[in-house]
Amino acid sequence: MGIESTAHTIGVGVVASSGRILANELETYRPLRGGIHPREAAQHHASVAHQVLERALRKAGVTIPEIDAVAFSYGPGLGPCLRTGATLARALALRLGRPLIAVNHGVAHIEIGKLLTGFRDPVVLYVAGGNTLVTTLHEGRYRILGETLDIAAGNCLDAFGIAAGIGPMPAPEQYARRGKNLHSMPFNVKGMDVSFSGILTSAERLLAGGVPVEDVSLSVTEAVYAMLTEVLERALALTLKKEVLLVGGLARSRRLQEMVGEMVKTHGAEFRPIPDEYLGDNGAMIAWTGIKMLQHGQVTAIEQSIVRPRLRIDETEVAWQ
Ligand code: FE2
Repeated sequence: MGIESTAHTIGVGVVASSGRILANELETYRPLRGGIHPREAAQHHASVAHQVLERALRKAGVTIPEIDAVAFSYGPGLGPCLRTGATLARALALRLGRPLIAVNHGVAHIEIGKLLTGFRDPVVLYVAGGNTLVTTLHEGRYRILGETLDIAAGNCLDAFGIAAGIGPMPAPEQYARRGKNLHSMPFNVKGMDVSFSGILTSAERLLAGGVPVEDVSLSVTEAVYAMLTEVLERALALTLKKEVLLVGGLARSRRLQEMVGEMVKTHGAEFRPIPDEYLGDNGAMIAWTGIKMLQHGQVTAIEQSIVRPRLRIDETEVAWQ
């Protein structure tokens, strides 16, 4: 069983060691206005966790004693949210007398992607509301080849949508489809790092100057996706790997998938999109990564199962490959 609670989603997944996903249930906290408040999100998770857990068990057709191990996201994420999921995981593991496995959330996004695509050694672009990085496995760890120097790509698009009065993603991408004129945007790619804050500033200036929101949406989304595709291309050219994976909530963007698909073809590599359900935060990815870790003895003692809000992807040893 995998428990996910790093940010606005509380999820419970049940996965068999064969890789068959038996259940993937979740509830998402949606603030009425503004951004995510960590303590309110954690309260939401605590209040619905039992329902999500029951639904996952029912869907999987298993009883609690049939769960062989309990995995949970221990970071990165929002402290109060992480602690809620960790508390549930510890309680279950203790009561059942089963191993507890602390899973790196970023690693889990990649591992579920590999399971669903059959890829073995991809170059990965991990793009979400709170994360933007290019990574690949090298000598037992997912090394960070590039990352954002300021805000995450998803955060940039959400903040733009909210400032423009159309709401967060996917609204900016929907408006972009009706855009006609592309305005120039700062293209900040430094090596394999990216910076998005200049785009927000430029977008606000265009809106204030009376440019239609559809055109600004088009300009912003195209600029963000082009920068992401560019750093991914640099990583592909450097590593000479032949598989490309897009993971994280923003990887649901059809336009980003299209751009990446075209770029990848020119390198004789392959890109396979992952079903939307497994791109956002979910419990199945934690369960699946937990299985991999359990098979390699990477279990966590209760007293060491402290959450790590600032955990980085390269802090976890990938012993299973
Ligand atoms: Fe995530």
